[in-house]
Amino acid sequence: MRGPRAHMVEQRLTVQQAYDAVAEVYDGEYQSPRDIEQNGWVKREVLRDIASADRILDVGAGTGLLLDLFPLATSRTVNVDPSPGMLHQLEVKHPGARVVTSLAEHYIPEQPFSFVISLFGAVNYIDRPERLLAPPYLALNGRAFLMFYGPRHAGPRVLLAHGIPPLAPPRTVEEVAAMGVASGREWSMGEYDGFLWLRVGGRA
Ligand SMILES: C[S@@+](CC[C@H](N)C(=O)[O-])C[C@H]1O[C@@H](n2cnc3c(N)ncnc32)[C@H](O)[C@@H]1O
Repeated sequence: MRGPRAHMVEQRLTVQQAYDAVAEVYDGEYQSPRDIEQNGWVKREVLRDIASADRILDVGAGTGLLLDLFPLATSRTVNVDPSPGMLHQLEVKHPGARVVTSLAEHYIPEQPFSFVISLFGAVNYIDRPERLLAPPYLALNGRAFLMFYGPRHAGPRVLLAHGIPPLAPPRTVEEVAAMGVASGREWSMGEYDGFLWLRVGGRA
């Protein structure tokens, strides 16, 4: 295959291989007081969304941070990620969790979700992440919370620590705002510790 599409496929496979390579050490790399504080911030931000959603999609679920924070959401959550290594860690911690080993772009849900979430930069790897803000991913009356690496973030520390480049460009404030506008829904955005967050559909 030639042209830009061939390049994109090649880059995505590289992302999968990169996360497979660090999967076993991933959780151990994110245990600093600052990491714990960040997780607490996320938990407060989405607590009500998680509590009220009957079907949750975690895009780029990785080793299952969302379920670490909200174990009671396990049966209501579909975890999609292209890295079998990362998802293996998730399944060890959360037996019975529903996992889909796929690029989010290649996953076509049978039914849209009431809450779509993506934590700590997983959406930076996705082409046209605004597609996650509409069916078949997000129900028309659903809500979403996406966290992008912003321009002030150095990129995924776990990859950098293992000599792997960030692999995905940061997103700008303008790009994230454009996704909010394109959703055609109520939206808000902000910055937290180098991440740009986008909320669609208002707070629960
Ligand atoms: C920085 S990690 C974040 C993992 C998890 N969300 C967390 O906060 O711990 C990025 C994750 O995005 C996944 N990823 C990369 N490209 C993806 C894609 N196209 N669709 C879905 N997930 C993807 C990687 O495999 C990796 O697990």
